[in-house]
Amino acid sequence: MGIPVKWPVVPLTELEQSAFCDSEPVSTMTLKEEQKAGVRWQSLPEHYLDLLPSQLSEKIRINRELLGDKVVILGHHYQREDIIAFADFRGDSFKLAQFATSQSNAEYTIFCGVYFMAETASILGKNYQKVLLPNIQAGCSMADMAPSQDVEDCWEDLEQALGPRTITPVTYMNSTAAVKALCGRNNGIVCTSSNAKAVLEWAYQQRQRVVFFPDQHLGRNTALGLGIPLSEMAIWNPFKPLGGNTISELERARIILWKGHCSVHTRFTVNQIQSARESCPDINIVVHPECTMEVVNAADYVGSTEKICRVIEEAPSGSVWGVGTEVNLVTRLAHENPSKKVICLDPIVCPCSTMYRVHPAYLLWVTDELLQGRIHNEIKVGEEISYFARIALERMLEVSR
Ligand code: 13P
Ligand code: SF4
Repeated sequence: MGIPVKWPVVPLTELEQSAFCDSEPVSTMTLKEEQKAGVRWQSLPEHYLDLLPSQLSEKIRINRELLGDKVVILGHHYQREDIIAFADFRGDSFKLAQFATSQSNAEYTIFCGVYFMAETASILGKNYQKVLLPNIQAGCSMADMAPSQDVEDCWEDLEQALGPRTITPVTYMNSTAAVKALCGRNNGIVCTSSNAKAVLEWAYQQRQRVVFFPDQHLGRNTALGLGIPLSEMAIWNPFKPLGGNTISELERARIILWKGHCSVHTRFTVNQIQSARESCPDINIVVHPECTMEVVNAADYVGSTEKICRVIEEAPSGSVWGVGTEVNLVTRLAHENPSKKVICLDPIVCPCSTMYRVHPAYLLWVTDELLQGRIHNEIKVGEEISYFARIALERMLEVSR
């Protein structure tokens, strides 16, 4: 217990927030201005800090052309607009993982997303492919809530309390490679928000009980969807003996939920949904399954970032949408669907501050360096962890086929 977090968890500054209050989705700040706000980001050579957004874009565009097929740039839906503009391929975490297994041309994948996504691409990619994360401090606070040693301790305690080979370990993609490896080693599996239901069904075909890391909300929402009542769920608090449960509570549980959450998605509330419905009775509400059970129950649709995009793209012109997910994506959906009204349910704005750390200055830096034959921020996973994590990931890919 108490293993230090791998990625710094930095609260959003006022300056970061102000970037999202503008009607324009592209930040107008130089990196120096963003860094003055006290954000602890990976340091960069001084001359990158003062470049204006337009200068950055032009330089990245030139580098992109020079690098050609040697490089592929992937962008998660939550990336800032000035990064998505350069993505060869964008998607949710599942689509991006699938892409990592299927693409064989590029020698370098520049992963514009967060650490666990780049780790996954590195595990699933070919041996000769290298994955680079432009800002090494782009982590995920949810993944940090499940340090691998705590997860190992939990697994040992559960096997001792409930008997060996009675539980399937399932981890959400948003976890470290070591947690994925524990699942791979113990007949378990990985899931994403787009396939969690199929994965849980698979898990219950293996054994009668599941332990789900690290997002309690995705675990609870998915289990409820499978008809498992709350009375058959337990929470595992890593700071308490036996996760804060008695043996009989664990025996009663069909799913044991690690006490983790996403600080972006747990900001959404039923009150926000109610006031959106009061001010616009025709509004449709779509939320991500990392939101709380109450919010998911109050919504009209629930799904991964990819599903949220699809539902809004396919909706009729004139429809109105209240969205419960990261604001970069919501802002983009609003711009890309001008015939519909798309708003974020949280009036204060809710960016993922770690996704936001992939500033264009970092993309310029890694591409400048690549052109000089220097590789920075390569994400490498140890051989043994990679081997077992890959087993758990491939099971997920198989189940989702
Ligand atoms: P998706 O799998 O829906 O892309 O979500 C990833 C994520 O980090 C959500 O917080
Ligand atoms: Fe992690 Fe939440 Fe950001 Fe997704 S939105 S990367 S779960 S902190």
